[in-house]
Amino acid sequence: MASKVLVLGISGSPRKDGNTDIAVKRTLEAISRLRDVETLFIRVADFNIKHCIGCRECMKIGECAIRDDDFNIILEKLMQAEMIVVGAPVFWNSPPGVMKDFIDRTHGFYTDRKRLLGKKVGIISVAAESGFESHEDILSWMRIYGAEIVGKVRIYAREKGEILQRPKEIAKVERFARILAERLQ
Ligand SMILES: Cc1cc2nc3c(=O)[nH]c(=O)nc-3n(C[C@H](O)[C@H](O)[C@H](O)COP(=O)(O)O)c2cc1C
Repeated sequence: MASKVLVLGISGSPRKDGNTDIAVKRTLEAISRLRDVETLFIRVADFNIKHCIGCRECMKIGECAIRDDDFNIILEKLMQAEMIVVGAPVFWNSPPGVMKDFIDRTHGFYTDRKRLLGKKVGIISVAAESGFESHEDILSWMRIYGAEIVGKVRIYAREKGEILQRPKEIAKVERFARILAERLQ
């Protein structure tokens, strides 16, 4: 029997069970109601991801030279996934450092700009009020490596779990999930 397609949800928020975690989880739940897929939710902050040190060794070897942390655990899941739902709160117009560390560590993919070809990506940005544009640009980094951005959603929420008190924002997540589900076989 063929194994199910994997939809990976990645939350880049340092705040456990905050608005981003909720939005990413809700998206995965909605997709799995619509499609017979396997889903997996992970939080980057639950892993030990070291900072990129800018050595550029990755440009010679095609992968990150730092190997004594959890980066490859997340990378392995990402490579297995057909769809990646990546969410992060806006911190000063950009993703939080913990998410940016993960992004920086994929720099070696530049040696093969087709590394993520065929993968579909949905982007969830959460902010209290502003900073979405530059944030979304950074969170769209996988398109540089061939992935297709198939949907984006901007969620307005500030306090922990506030999204749950905002039916309009939850409805946006549901709509976003439907758009993503349509892009799965
Ligand atoms: C360090 C920091 C920087 C922030 N910067 C912004 C910002 O630039 N624009 C904005 O609208 N909200 C900003 N916020 C608010 C968060 O985006 C908001 O609280 C969001 O709901 C957090 O999501 P989470 O619950 O998933 O962690 C910031 C919050 C923190 C802690």
